[in-house]
Amino acid sequence: MNIHIYNDYDEMSKAAADYVYNFIKSKPNAVLGLPTGSTPIGMYKELIKLYKENKISFKDITTFNLDEYENLDESNVNSYHYFMFDNCFNHIDIDKENINILSGTNEDYEKECKAYEDKIEKAGGIDLMILGLGINGHVGFNEPSDYFSGETYRIKLHEDTIEANSRFFDNVDEVPRYALTMGIKSIMNCKEILLLAGGGNKANAIKGAVEGPITPQLPASVLQLHSSAVFMLDNESAKLLSK
Ligand code: GLP
Repeated sequence: MNIHIYNDYDEMSKAAADYVYNFIKSKPNAVLGLPTGSTPIGMYKELIKLYKENKISFKDITTFNLDEYENLDESNVNSYHYFMFDNCFNHIDIDKENINILSGTNEDYEKECKAYEDKIEKAGGIDLMILGLGINGHVGFNEPSDYFSGETYRIKLHEDTIEANSRFFDNVDEVPRYALTMGIKSIMNCKEILLLAGGGNKANAIKGAVEGPITPQLPASVLQLHSSAVFMLDNESAKLLSK
């Protein structure tokens, strides 16, 4: 696990965009795993800037998003579909055929999850998975649990996640109670991992993920076992690490 600490969110976002830029330069047809949440927004903005300056193209890139809420239509502003098009895809030259996001409105969610895994396999696996981090240590929507999850599946969200994510909704009752997410096994299968975390409310989760025991009670801790994981943190989220 490689840890990089930056002075603030903007520096971290620029470094993350640079990392992705170099990755795409060395593999223009890379398969990327993408996160939502407020943390990666700065990175997406920087990547869009690089695209507008003609420094990078996404035309041969394939993407797989990590997760999606259940029962939110794609046009719902809180769906991760909407988020990705609004914050990233609408502003770059990615081929829409190469964008993959789980559908939270497919009633046959088992079929949806299986088909997603099949698509990832057909694409040759994910070269670089970019992750955010929940305050309880979740990655994707893999909540603290008694065991590490396997492949893409449906999960019941924890109350603390519902509470944390309610800031995007009109009220807490509107936050979906279920989501579809790539599992821990799907994430560990990715060839490289880049995790981003900023802000003091992530400090405990970062401490556990980096220095704590590897436990499904803090899902991100499993990344200690990944052979190629990079963490990009700001000072605040890194403040509890014993340097
Ligand atoms: C959600 C997403 C995660 C994300 C997390 C953190 O729960 N499912 O993938 O990492 O939020 O979000 P934020 O970056 O807004 O703190």
